[in-house]
Amino acid sequence: MQRRTLIAVTGAAIVGSVFGRVTAAAAATGWQQRWAPEASVDGLSAFEGVEDDRANSHPAGQPHIFVQNNNFRFNMHTVDRDSMTDRQRQEVKGMHAQGADLVVANGETWRWTYAMYIPGSLKATTTFTHIMQMKMPGDGSLPILTTSLQRVGTVPKIQLHSFNDDVIVGRADLAPLQNKWIDVEFEMTVGDGAKGAVRWALHDGATPVIDVSRSGLDTFLGDRVRPKWGIYRSLGDTSGSLQDTYLLLTRMRAYKATTVAPVRYEAENASRSGGTVDSNHAGFTGTGFVNTENATGAWVQWTVNAPAAGPATLTFRHANGTTANRPMSLTVNGTAVAPALAFNPTGDWTAWADVPYTADLNAGTNTVRLTATTANGGPNLDRLDVVATAA
Ligand code: GCU
Ligand code: CA
Repeated sequence: MQRRTLIAVTGAAIVGSVFGRVTAAAAATGWQQRWAPEASVDGLSAFEGVEDDRANSHPAGQPHIFVQNNNFRFNMHTVDRDSMTDRQRQEVKGMHAQGADLVVANGETWRWTYAMYIPGSLKATTTFTHIMQMKMPGDGSLPILTTSLQRVGTVPKIQLHSFNDDVIVGRADLAPLQNKWIDVEFEMTVGDGAKGAVRWALHDGATPVIDVSRSGLDTFLGDRVRPKWGIYRSLGDTSGSLQDTYLLLTRMRAYKATTVAPVRYEAENASRSGGTVDSNHAGFTGTGFVNTENATGAWVQWTVNAPAAGPATLTFRHANGTTANRPMSLTVNGTAVAPALAFNPTGDWTAWADVPYTADLNAGTNTVRLTATTANGGPNLDRLDVVATAA
């Protein structure tokens, strides 16, 4: 009974935050629920795969991963051994819904929420104890992100680690979070180089424990990203913290952002009629900006990509050092959508401002054209940022 009460409170808090807030991980405008298994209904078919004592080291302890009440339970015994015998693993991997495995792809932003019970026997260790991983499928690559129970000096901590950048995104004391249900929120923008981002928040009932965000991370290795949950730990602990233990998870949910991460298209790479690419007024991005020809009908055209048909935010960046508006008509795939988009004075040719416009794009390739509607021509154009609807 007590557990049910706690989870009901938990659920309300999670739903409230899913739809009410723009996240730090990405400028997501909304979330689509893609995965909502109930342990008692879906069982382990909620997952793409189950790694229950995959080396068959402890048959008497099987199954180590099973449904208990409406929870997913992961048992770990000190005698359990993974195929690499310096460690132990009882994990589930990936998400399965409506007969298919869910794919978390490069460029996408996802959000996971669930309730987690870490008993006192599941302790932080001096070597790794992962309770969640984001990984490229397959052996032979390090995780991308891990949630781990780590001893820092003598203090047990729960932490999120970004491996490619070797950054601890956040860290909280573990002891106050044990032997109770806590709520986990985890958001990830999958991005190569520095295009990735992550947000990690823990709640103890209504009390926020930690809420950290980090962008500029490398969260993509190749293929796709797959979550794993369970206990994956090293036997190298020197603090005497390895015991028979377990982990409980419930109310697992995954949401996909309805928009993709912004894609930047520099004006100097667009096609155009007349004009020049200049770099004499500072503050542009890329290698320069387009100084549009001062004539009616002068145009700049970008070819932009969208993973799915739907509304997209097109944000044009411009400078206008005069005192008069330099309007341009906006056409998308040949259709005029805005007859006179205003490019107002910015105070100086080195002062740049954003002009956003929401227009429908097709799946695949689109043309976006700005055409000067007065003899003054358009402003200086720096770039176009596109936030498109996700597939
Ligand atoms: C100035 C300015 C240019 C700009 C032009 C204009 O010459 O240096 O960058 O394009 O005015 O009025 O269009
Ligand atoms: Ca000009």
